[in-house]
Amino acid sequence: MKNWNTIPVFILKSVQGCGHVSPAAGEPIGRFMMQRVKYAAVGCSGMGRRHLHGYAKLLGSNHRNIELAAVCDLDAGLANALADEAGALTGTRPPAFTDLGEMAAAVPELEAADITTDAGSHLPVSRACLAAGLHILCEKPLGLTVSECRAIMDAGRAANRIVSVAENFRRDPMNRLVKALLDDGAIGKPRLMREESIGGTDLIVTTPWRHFKHTGTVVVDSGVHNADIIRFYLGEIVSIYGESRLHEPVRRPQPQADAAATQRDSWWGARSQLPVATQATGEDAIYAQIRFASGVICQWVLDRAGHGLARDERVIYGAKGSITAPGDRNGRPVVLHLDDGKSITDEHILDFAPSYRLTPVAATLFGDARPWRYDFSFNDVDQKLLALQLHELADCIGHGTQPEVTAAEGMADVALAYAPVESGRLGRAVTLDEILNGSASPYQDEIIELRRSA
Ligand SMILES: NC(=O)c1ccc[n+]([C@@H]2O[C@H](COP(=O)([O-])OP(=O)(O)OC[C@H]3O[C@@H](n4cnc5c(N)ncnc54)[C@H](O)[C@@H]3O)[C@@H](O)[C@H]2O)c1
Repeated sequence: MKNWNTIPVFILKSVQGCGHVSPAAGEPIGRFMMQRVKYAAVGCSGMGRRHLHGYAKLLGSNHRNIELAAVCDLDAGLANALADEAGALTGTRPPAFTDLGEMAAAVPELEAADITTDAGSHLPVSRACLAAGLHILCEKPLGLTVSECRAIMDAGRAANRIVSVAENFRRDPMNRLVKALLDDGAIGKPRLMREESIGGTDLIVTTPWRHFKHTGTVVVDSGVHNADIIRFYLGEIVSIYGESRLHEPVRRPQPQADAAATQRDSWWGARSQLPVATQATGEDAIYAQIRFASGVICQWVLDRAGHGLARDERVIYGAKGSITAPGDRNGRPVVLHLDDGKSITDEHILDFAPSYRLTPVAATLFGDARPWRYDFSFNDVDQKLLALQLHELADCIGHGTQPEVTAAEGMADVALAYAPVESGRLGRAVTLDEILNGSASPYQDEIIELRRSA
């Protein structure tokens, strides 16, 4: 198995602005032993802590190619707490900062930043990191609007740095298996996908900023995950017809009821300090029909205000059969339904997906190169997927390659998440191209205006 610490690297080049070395294509200047990529964790709240545990998971494997060298959050308490937690988890406490510029100056060996700040801050934080010469892994959504995504993509190109989007759902082995089943023709030509997620009632979704139009509604914060899966499974999208709603304008704090919820909520320690109620201004539901270049149709419902029956469904129908996907991070088996009435729910499903194979690091973390199910806790799976993202970033820096979810991919996900809202505003179907070029974006134009005047 490859160990990054001992990989000989033939091609190294100075990284502009940070006085460190990383490989670039086409410049054979000698044989060096590759250092682990030094990175900063920028954002030390809920998702920052989850990424830290993903890093610790990677450290525990034999694929260590990255090293946490600094942490940064505007909130000194959170920054110090994350540094302490990193010290306890890994044996090394990184220095903590509240200012990106100070951090870059104090830790010149930094090569990368892992950005887990709130969605509304991704543009300024990404720009600052790229300007400091750092490659970035930015949490989804890449930007709050398509134009913000484009600005981050352009900044990455101008700085000649990698922009990777932390889209973890598609890295779930069960989603890799579904993709392989589709590609290998297990259900014939796909015809229809149904992606449905309903629930949430009038409770705050994790943090209040997810309910404000100018800081990132649940539609984009949560919707980009679905958008990414839909695009990952079925490819190029032509048009979208949809509607959106703001069903629950007043959101109540989450009660921390059962043990599982309490464990998950522990990542967001500040949640207990939430106000009694939040006045929501952003959409909380979208209902859409998507048409792909291949002719496939996807019916997509994302309703974070659903009452009563909570439901998550992901099914793809094809010319020879259908697939029930289990959803994300639960490890339940994918089910293949065939015309003879058989439903394949066990390891024989692998016979229909010969191309399915995890990367070596994913195979190590999940204990199998071709798992047809897995049985890990939510936190464990979450950490494995986040570990994969960090590993990929360092691997791309090391080899001068691009990540799987580039800025352009992340931007297309954001475009698809907003498309039903824009379609509803315009009262017509919109093309994805129109959303990407900003010519059919009245809702995002309002967001841009709100952010300008905020
Ligand atoms: N992929 C997933 O499964 C998943 C799950 C939850 C959240 N997320 C994403 O992670 C990101 C963070 O979510 P969260 O719930 O942790 O947000 P949060 O609001 O709890 O935390 C954001 C943190 O960023 C800090 N911050 C803001 N601007 C900063 C700056 N300029 N410099 C340094 N620190 C700054 C804030 O002080 C805060 O501590 C969001 O983009 C969210 O969509 C992804």
